[in-house]
Amino acid sequence: MNYKIAILEDKIKESLKSLGYETDVTIIPSARPDLGDYQYNGIMPLAKKSGLNPQELAQKLVDLIKDYPEIKEAAIAGPGFINLTFTDDFLIDFLNDSLTNININYNQDINKTIFLDYGGPNVAKVLHVGHLRSANIGEALKRLAQSVGCQTISDVHLGDWGRPMGMVILEIKTRYPDLAYFKEDYNGEDVDFKLTNEDLIELYPIATTKAKENESIMAEARQINYELQNKHKGYFALWQKIVEVSVNEVKKLYQDLNISFDLWEGEYTSSAYIDELLDYLYAKNLLKDSEGAKIIEVKEETDNKEMPPLIMFKSNGAISYEATDLAALWERVHKYKLDEIWYMTDKRQELHFTQVFRAAYKSSIVSPDTKLIFNGYGTMNGADGKPFKTRDGGVMPLADLITKVYQVCLNRLGDNVQENREQIAKTIAIAAIKYADLLPFRNTDYNFDIDKFTDLNGKTGTYLLYSTIRMRSLLNKALKQNITFNNLTYLNSEMRKIIIAMLDLKRIIKRSFDACSLNEICEYLYKITNLYNNFYASTKVLSEPDFEKRSSYLSLTKAIYENNCQLLTILGINIPEKM
Ligand code: ARG
Repeated sequence: MNYKIAILEDKIKESLKSLGYETDVTIIPSARPDLGDYQYNGIMPLAKKSGLNPQELAQKLVDLIKDYPEIKEAAIAGPGFINLTFTDDFLIDFLNDSLTNININYNQDINKTIFLDYGGPNVAKVLHVGHLRSANIGEALKRLAQSVGCQTISDVHLGDWGRPMGMVILEIKTRYPDLAYFKEDYNGEDVDFKLTNEDLIELYPIATTKAKENESIMAEARQINYELQNKHKGYFALWQKIVEVSVNEVKKLYQDLNISFDLWEGEYTSSAYIDELLDYLYAKNLLKDSEGAKIIEVKEETDNKEMPPLIMFKSNGAISYEATDLAALWERVHKYKLDEIWYMTDKRQELHFTQVFRAAYKSSIVSPDTKLIFNGYGTMNGADGKPFKTRDGGVMPLADLITKVYQVCLNRLGDNVQENREQIAKTIAIAAIKYADLLPFRNTDYNFDIDKFTDLNGKTGTYLLYSTIRMRSLLNKALKQNITFNNLTYLNSEMRKIIIAMLDLKRIIKRSFDACSLNEICEYLYKITNLYNNFYASTKVLSEPDFEKRSSYLSLTKAIYENNCQLLTILGINIPEKM
């Protein structure tokens, strides 16, 4: 089955060729829906090149286009825009195609293998609201990439090998100096030491504050970290315990959020490649000494901003965050054949990734055929535009935010929902959070406003779920009443608008994929849902006596329902059974 807009574009391309013009053709939804469904804006540049009057050229093309079976009317507007009005049959066929295979609106035969690095939780540290975005955006981008035809490999990339590990271990050592982990003769045996995630939540801020405020504590933590990185038996065993406890907790939270990974690797896993990497860099003569540290210069002639060198390891010998990322790249390109590697982190890490990418290309660790892409995102703030804080001024844990939104959703849940109220409220809360987070362009900061984001009548996850569930229950009612339907054969003006919006989906999907942002998809989902709801409000679907009309209403409902499900799936949003 071929995508109808693409076929039409090809036809226009052929017509232009017959007029002597070789060019690719794109048509887009009309900016003036009162004048046409779609428009072609390519005439002016073509005419300019050949020194022709654009209106004359437009007229020649229109004379050919107007005879296409797809086209009811082709008209010239302004200096040479061509407005296209589709025949009903064209729209009807398209919708029926979508009904047979909704995928035609998604798959673009982009056959890349993309490695996605997102989530990036730090071991022993509670997941704060700031961590939502990486995982949420990364997951949705992964699903989007799959929907256009790509293979994906996803890695949570744990922050598990940095200096905070030394700080946490030091704090545990200070509290329990007699633990076997800290004995000279410790030999890897099991230690009876109960550690919970609550312990870590309590420990971590104390450990890091102490180190930051006290030079000698910091020095000690650094030393422990250095020894840990060199596999000090006791520290390493304790570290493994910390990781296990912490990762279990993170997994639960991600599961609640519909976020999953192929790989649970991280800085530690990458560190296994450090020696190979260093040998390689030494052989290439790329490592330089700088005040005891080893660095790689990444400055380029064209830089107009300062570009500090990448530090591979610090003067105390401990490996840097940059080094772990270079090692991770080393591992990734050796293990997999990748077209692109995407990183989803806070946009404030841009410099870090610029350094890493430059070093990776400069050293030929990564070949120029593999694109390294940094997809930074903006900050999520509280409703007042200030960093999201808890009452006592701390950064709000992500789990607490979910609970807060959940409470609001539970309170608002109608009496019609009796069973599974808690589960359903949770699904709605997650949808509200995820949609609100994906709605702004990736790079922009936004304010999280619980009331606004859970409003049943706004541009919200709640509204979208409610509307989609209503479509489903309409289809179920038809089923129960033995009302059969097969195809769409009838069209009125409201249905027309919906189908025209549907025609644009494939382009939106492509644009979103190219921009690595979900904002347009979120807007689109809202728009098409609204159009459908307008139709629904003015149409008696099930009680319509005319078979052809009723069948068409239901076909349209089914297509939009399935499409909404598909889009919500890309956004990583589950649909509850009821609402
Ligand atoms: N753990 C890091 C942080 O919290 C994010 C990791 C991002 N991924 C990477 N490959 N560096 O800042």
